[in-house]
Amino acid sequence: MTLPNPNPSSRPIEAWLRPGDALPAAFDKRQALMPMWGAQPLAQPQWADAWQTMLATPIAERSLAYVHIPFCANRCVFCGFYRNAWQEQRGKPYVDRLIAELASEASQRPPGGSVSALYLGGGTPTALAAADLARLLAAARQCLPLTADCEITVEGRISHFSPDKAQACLAAGANRLSIGVQSFDSRLRRRLGRQHGGEEAAGYLRQLCRRTQAVVVADLMFGLPGQDDAKWAHDIDTALSLGLSGLDLYAFNCFPGLPLNRMLEKGALPPLPGLATQARHYAYAVRRLEDAGWTQLSNSHFASPDSRERNRYNRAIKSGRDCLAFGSGAGGCHAGHSYQVQGELADYLATPADSKPLGFIAGVGPQKQTLSLIQGALEQGTFSLAAFAAFPLMLNQLRRWQAQGLLTLRHDAVQLSIAGRFWAPTLIRELAMLTSTQQETICPPHAMPMPRPRSIPNARPN
Ligand SMILES: C[S@@+](CC[C@H](N)C(=O)[O-])C[C@H]1O[C@@H](n2cnc3c(N)ncnc32)[C@H](O)[C@@H]1O
Ligand code: SF4
Repeated sequence: MTLPNPNPSSRPIEAWLRPGDALPAAFDKRQALMPMWGAQPLAQPQWADAWQTMLATPIAERSLAYVHIPFCANRCVFCGFYRNAWQEQRGKPYVDRLIAELASEASQRPPGGSVSALYLGGGTPTALAAADLARLLAAARQCLPLTADCEITVEGRISHFSPDKAQACLAAGANRLSIGVQSFDSRLRRRLGRQHGGEEAAGYLRQLCRRTQAVVVADLMFGLPGQDDAKWAHDIDTALSLGLSGLDLYAFNCFPGLPLNRMLEKGALPPLPGLATQARHYAYAVRRLEDAGWTQLSNSHFASPDSRERNRYNRAIKSGRDCLAFGSGAGGCHAGHSYQVQGELADYLATPADSKPLGFIAGVGPQKQTLSLIQGALEQGTFSLAAFAAFPLMLNQLRRWQAQGLLTLRHDAVQLSIAGRFWAPTLIRELAMLTSTQQETICPPHAMPMPRPRSIPNARPN
């Protein structure tokens, strides 16, 4: 008989993995689709009419709402979400304009419908002053038909998010705090542009979980420069010790244009670990969390045994639920259109208070709707083939992936393996391409669910 190991983290990563958990050679690249894939952009002269049609269409039941705060105190070298430097004097005018946008839309929309998840994302919403966060949340609650059990998330980071500010958010109605941590390794954090050490970050989160009634979730990344087995095991150990209700684990995506690329070229950072390590690290985390009684809610998101985490916004956005968008750079989807609010901050602020500052509108065709269906299914990790009856070519592809160990197919049910969940962005991409070739002739648009918003800022990482 084997005795249980009293200290699970002392076991090497390999001891946690079962054969086939990590299949790093399954594809050359782990690559998601472009966010606007399948959308049909409208020419600017058509925007005003399209917007009026959208405004006149009642919102669906259990829609989503996203409010974007496009400021960051500094540019973290790994991140593609940075837009504008945070300065204290920028907060009040920005929140004034946002509240005007919420109020203007509320006064023009027909009654009906509801919003079951509201997300304040960024950038860094927690950079705003406590009073601005409180009045913004109050305005959103007043202007949007939130359900009684609405999930209300405020995203942010530890810097500038004092316990008092967190309390102000909760008093104003937020019930979920999503905090970007990235890693608890102090040296790595410094190199990435994070101000606090790993110990400090862990201590802060422990207190936040202990002292607030909110659901607290944290983001970690794997595949960062110099992040070896020991560092990743330490990150997971630490995350498990804090009392968090949820955890996001994102594979670091080193896309062109990140400041981190220049640092790698100059040798100012250790090399990236590569796909084989990323695949092992993902599988290790899944096994560790499973062993600790956590539940996997989507490919990158996990809920602790306290059962408080719903992850409602992130799950629904990936399966194409309608989403109203507010704030410079926010992306939304409603009444058969994807849209983006004006991303240039000066133009956003200069738009008259009774006009929607638009940056982009696209029609949502059947391709985009199919993509939502595929993404929703693969994010669940398990789905029924019946939903894809219109795409017979898909079955052959799924059988090939079964032979590779990426999934199992039993009768009508498909179940992704851990390796399949790691490769999900690539699987989604391949299936979307495959179905798009059959789209025009086979896919009846009315059989598809509504589209999902995927403009850049509030597209969560894969
Ligand atoms: C929109 S960002 C906001 C984070 C928050 N402002 C902070 O500073 O922690 C949300 C999350 O995206 C993830 N992320 C950012 N850049 C990424 C990249 N290049 N690859 C994968 N995930 C990334 C990070 O985990 C981050 O916490
Ligand atoms: S990680 Fe957060 S604070 Fe850093 S650049 Fe990205 S959005 Fe801004």
